[in-house]
Amino acid sequence: MNILISYYSRTGHTAELALLLAEEFMARGHSVDFEKIETVEVDHHWPILWRTQWYWGSLALGILSNTYRQYFIKNYKIPEVDLKPLVHPDVAKYDRICIGSPKHTILPCAIERYLRQIEGLKNKKVGYFATWAGPPLKYFEVEHLFRPAADRLERRGARLVSILALSSMYHEYQIMFIFRFLSRLRFGQPVENFSVYSEYGKNNRKLFCDELILGESDIKESKGWRRSYDGTGIPAVATASPLTTLQFVRRGYNRYVLKKPKPPFKKSDSQI
Ligand SMILES: Cc1cc2nc3c(=O)[nH]c(=O)nc-3n(C[C@H](O)[C@H](O)[C@H](O)COP(=O)(O)O)c2cc1C
Repeated sequence: MNILISYYSRTGHTAELALLLAEEFMARGHSVDFEKIETVEVDHHWPILWRTQWYWGSLALGILSNTYRQYFIKNYKIPEVDLKPLVHPDVAKYDRICIGSPKHTILPCAIERYLRQIEGLKNKKVGYFATWAGPPLKYFEVEHLFRPAADRLERRGARLVSILALSSMYHEYQIMFIFRFLSRLRFGQPVENFSVYSEYGKNNRKLFCDELILGESDIKESKGWRRSYDGTGIPAVATASPLTTLQFVRRGYNRYVLKKPKPPFKKSDSQI
């Protein structure tokens, strides 16, 4: 198969993942071309944060209201930025397209433009891969990236068939400690266990390639961003209600900060 890997990467982590995926595809006998998506103006991370400031508030509101969260994920708009001329502006000749990016709170502005700009997406089967700083938290990470990506691809007539996101363990604003804490709290594991080079990373890279080549799933139809997409049995933060997340925070706070003992175990009726 002819595969195009298009990626946007500011600090090199997604580019690294793109190379690993290319190796995997080539080892299976497929041919791979690359498209490096670059913005005309070099993006500094503070202007990006400025551009996405409204979304941080919405993220916080989403914790309080499930309805708002769903509305926000479905409808958020992203400012676009100009891109340097593309090497492959028409992707019609490729059998599969892989699009990769970091998570910039939401989809990066460059990807928003790219998805609108490229030609030949109709009926294409697409895989979306990403690096982010944290573990695969369902609400904060998975849903905010893949659901909008699936929506945008659908609007262009393409189908999202495979998704992958791994931790780069790097955050430009030096807030890795938050993700480390959340990873321990939610998964009971260090964030390293979800990184590109971890066992989890290796398995999921393979799964991503399998699903893309097979091309049978429909992430949007199956609400794939809602299931645990790792295939290793580690659940994403599958909170039906964000209040559950708050409960986790409260329990973690009681246990690790206040060092309160666990509430006494209650015997069920059958044990009495
Ligand atoms: C503006 C901005 C917002 C970010 N938002 C998130 C986020 O919401 N969740 C996360 O885990 N990482 C976030 N990151 C971290 C990046 O996704 C992470 O460092 C990524 O691996 C960078 O990829 P790159 O090296 O390919 O640019 C953010 C980074 C920036 C600059």
